[in-house]
Amino acid sequence: MLTITKTVCFSCSHRLYVKDWDDQKNFEVFGQCSRLHGHNYVLKVSLKGNPDPVTGMIINLTDLNKIIKHEIIKWIDHKNISEQVDVFQTKTPTVENLCIAFWDRLQKALPPNCLYKIALNETENNMAEYTGP
Ligand code: NI
Repeated sequence: MLTITKTVCFSCSHRLYVKDWDDQKNFEVFGQCSRLHGHNYVLKVSLKGNPDPVTGMIINLTDLNKIIKHEIIKWIDHKNISEQVDVFQTKTPTVENLCIAFWDRLQKALPPNCLYKIALNETENNMAEYTGP
């Protein structure tokens, strides 16, 4: 299988907490992350496919970049996603749930069956990868 990967960076803030829990319970489960804080994320979007016989490309990386900018960066960059992004009003904005949300948005915007993997580094030490449901 052949894949191609585009890497982009963005920054946003969040809190990891469950609305139905009090501050103490949230702190027990999420620690410092239950307070508002931010990350500089590194997102890798991988597509699979065969290179076009004429262009030699799975997808034009300029087009992929525009889609990622439109679907992800414009949507989330420099926001407090716990307060300002609809999806994360009901889902905890963990690195895992961010991957799933990115997959759902990108899959709708890309040609069918080409999205292969979302890999998201929240810190140098923590990352999640998602290859679809
Ligand atoms: Ni965090």
